Amino acid sequence: MTESPLGKPVSRVDARLKVTGAARYAADHRVDGLCHGYLVLSTTGRGTIRSMDTRAAEASPGVLAVYSPANPLKLYVAGGAGPNWVPLQDTEIRHYGQIVGLVVAETFEQARDAAELVRVEYDTRAPAASFVDGIPQAVLPPGGLVELLADGVASIDDALAGSEVRVTAEYRQPSKHHNAMEPHAVVAVWRDGRLTAYSGTQVPIGHARSIAAALGLDSTAVHVISPHVGGGFGNKASTWAHDIVAAAAARALDRPVKTVLTREQTFTVTGHRSAVAHTVALGATRDGRLTALKHEAYSSLSTSGWFAEQATATTSRLLYKTDNLHVAQRVVRLDVPPSTVMRAPGEESGLFALESAMDELAHASRMDPIALRMANYATLYPGRNVPWSSKHLDECYERGAAEFGWHRRQPAPRATVDGDWLIGMGMSTALYPAGRLPTTVKVRLLADGTAAVSTATADLGTGMWTVLAILGADRLGLPLARIAPQLGDSTLPDNTGAFGSTSTASVGSALRAAVEAAIAALIQLAVSHERSPFHGMAPAGVAYRDGELVAEGRRIAFGDLLETTSTSAVEATGRDSGGDGSRYAFHSFGAHFCEVRVNRWTGEPRLTRMTTVIDAGRIVNPKAATSQIVGGVIFGIGQALSEGALVEPASGRIANANLGDYLLPVNADVPPIAVHFVEHPDTIFNPMGVRGIGELGTAGAAPAIANAVFNATGVRVRELPITIEKLAP
Ligand code: MOS
Repeated sequence: MTESPLGKPVSRVDARLKVTGAARYAADHRVDGLCHGYLVLSTTGRGTIRSMDTRAAEASPGVLAVYSPANPLKLYVAGGAGPNWVPLQDTEIRHYGQIVGLVVAETFEQARDAAELVRVEYDTRAPAASFVDGIPQAVLPPGGLVELLADGVASIDDALAGSEVRVTAEYRQPSKHHNAMEPHAVVAVWRDGRLTAYSGTQVPIGHARSIAAALGLDSTAVHVISPHVGGGFGNKASTWAHDIVAAAAARALDRPVKTVLTREQTFTVTGHRSAVAHTVALGATRDGRLTALKHEAYSSLSTSGWFAEQATATTSRLLYKTDNLHVAQRVVRLDVPPSTVMRAPGEESGLFALESAMDELAHASRMDPIALRMANYATLYPGRNVPWSSKHLDECYERGAAEFGWHRRQPAPRATVDGDWLIGMGMSTALYPAGRLPTTVKVRLLADGTAAVSTATADLGTGMWTVLAILGADRLGLPLARIAPQLGDSTLPDNTGAFGSTSTASVGSALRAAVEAAIAALIQLAVSHERSPFHGMAPAGVAYRDGELVAEGRRIAFGDLLETTSTSAVEATGRDSGGDGSRYAFHSFGAHFCEVRVNRWTGEPRLTRMTTVIDAGRIVNPKAATSQIVGGVIFGIGQALSEGALVEPASGRIANANLGDYLLPVNADVPPIAVHFVEHPDTIFNPMGVRGIGELGTAGAAPAIANAVFNATGVRVRELPITIEKLAP
């Protein structure tokens, strides 16, 4: 009997490729005749191009073409989730750093140097680039307000006014950039009117469709190949303009074109997380029962984009039981690069505000922060009054407190001191919705005894190559080495893509159906083929077990059956059309605990340890899952302590659009992070009992840190990042 790898700590099946450098990312794909495109970006934030002098660039060595609004490539709006316009079709400048040209040359250096020679004159208008200045003009989109008031309560403000204890506070977060290690890149190759685009993406099929739409082609004419993606975090779930500009140039020149964004270019050509401001007001009884919860959030929304961070509908809307609830999500339209989804797009910002405010309420009420959360524990989704399919958040708090040593926390700030260091502890809740997206998986049993498991999803560092192999091995009863996973190609079976922490649940459900259908087809072959040892038997009398067909005491490996019957392969597909959310709410939960030391003279914060307990159903691969949560927490450390775009209000220029000035956590900033899973398989959500984990670790990490900083110092930092200046005595 083959032991299933499901639930075992499995090393990534692509690990060797990655560490030896054999894994090919988009820019690593080489083709004959390749030339290089380098983008020219606007240096003003709003206005029109008055003139563009490209003569020196065109005369520069190796240059093949310079495209601009004066010499455009015909493009259409791509659709999907990218920008709501396409470059080069007009002279309008919508934001600082937008594409105004593409220089194509024989080498990268020639293209880059020639791009420096392009002279652009602008008629500049003042952009609306200041988020803070824009807040008074914020608008409330339809559906942005949810209010649930108790009978006889006239307004949320009345409910607040009548509460025994109240806290009100404003919180603020700057816009933030994904900064995946692999910058966006494309290698565009045309053959016979069809495009092959090697381009790192979370959504191979959606990306192919968007590129096709932008080029005016049928979607079948574009093939996206994306076997390895060096991080996405939401920013490779859309098609950005460089892909389509490079593809159009390759078509015009009849040469393959590679375009790799510089780090600085990724800041404005691709997406970012909205800046968010919040007002949170909590009213409670003296013993900590919430009587009113009001959370109003303002998120920046680019005039050239479609997505604004949804900070309230994802968090305060549902996390706690309260007598009266009012959440509103407004947007602030700005002339900045397009904002988009970024790891926990809503939960990250919303939980910072809500879970900081809960900590403020705990302090005001002299209650333990966990006791306060338990006093308001929701077992029914507020307003919908349906239960969660599986919710063990209480166990996360309890287990986390025990593992972390929460009982050693002194409730009063500045009460724990070690020499020059003030020591504090804080905690926060994590949550993220569980979803399933339409997915088709194909299982192909081959005569060599292996099985290919394929679907057009992506592995953006998430471990999906390995998940496919594990789930395939588990369902087929085969060793891991006999499963060949296939993903990262738009011609594979239909898949909505890898985002929203939905992939494992979606793929797992479809894969189960595919394996069942493949086994049925195999049995059909066994009973119907005249050279099969089971020829003529009833299908019901033949069973599949661990790679073999078994009947009447005889057995045959499926590979041998295929050999014997000269059948190259038996295959079947399975489809998951998504979950039914009508009777249950689906969420993953968790709790973060953080210990911080803050230097009492300089204000320098140093994290010393974090503990995170996760309730995400059954865990497919504890090794990769732990790594996902650790990565998510580190992502949250960056949001808490160091990250934030510095947008110059007058121009919209991002002053720190590089990794020297936009500060990401490095090893020295990251303390030991202990991850625990409370494993309750959620079989109401899907037959595998799994939920997603990609974004959960980030949700709530920042407020746990901010709350620990308050406990250490007595300083409540309500505007991220928590930098040394804000803590200096
Ligand atoms: Mo994730 S922000 O849904 O890729």
